[in-house]
Amino acid sequence: MRSALHSALLGVPARRRRLLAKAHGVVLELGGGANVPHYRNVDRVVVVEPDAARRRTLLDRVAAADVKVEVHETTLDDPALAPSSFDTVVSTFVLCTVPDPAATLSAIRRLLRPEGRLLFLEHVRAGGWRAAMQRVSAPVWPRFFDGCHVDRDSVKNIRAAGYLITDLERFTLRATAPVVSAAVQGVAVPRSDAERAAA
Ligand SMILES: C[S@@+](CC[C@H](N)C(=O)[O-])C[C@H]1O[C@@H](n2cnc3c(N)ncnc32)[C@H](O)[C@@H]1O
Repeated sequence: MRSALHSALLGVPARRRRLLAKAHGVVLELGGGANVPHYRNVDRVVVVEPDAARRRTLLDRVAAADVKVEVHETTLDDPALAPSSFDTVVSTFVLCTVPDPAATLSAIRRLLRPEGRLLFLEHVRAGGWRAAMQRVSAPVWPRFFDGCHVDRDSVKNIRAAGYLITDLERFTLRATAPVVSAAVQGVAVPRSDAERAAA
């Protein structure tokens, strides 16, 4: 009970810290670099951010980071990113934005080492009255919020893309619009081709 209450009270910065404590080795962060201040004890962080304005906002954070950070003007589909070269991939509020989540999750699988992990923190499809609000706003929301889709079922998408979710927490984001307040955070590992075939 106490941990459920504690979880409900956590804000986004605390959630980022909690998630990023699980990062290790060589890390790929998709989009934005908002997590840069939270990395500790990793070898290196590579941020891929296609948007120039967002990259500029990163400079101070990179300069103040505790770890080595590289920022690349590209997306995760860039062939310069070598297959199986990352121990950790971090996606926070990105799977709602990418044009094709299945393709993005497949590209992440390609970049992760076999024992690597995807760390995610995302707003997702809601239930109850918030689902009704999402249905109403879904057609227009992406036009006003940088292509953000309010009602993606990212947990289902992660599983469908061949990952095993080993750690999952569902919660309500505080101090945000109800339409984007249903959220999840967790850890997923890519299943091997043999595991996927046997499933
Ligand atoms: C809603 S913002 C989230 C920013 C940040 N990750 C955070 O936690 O606040 C979505 C970000 O995803 C980036 N993005 C969209 N498609 C991408 C892709 N294919 N590869 C990398 N980043 C991408 C956008 O440029 C933007 O910075």
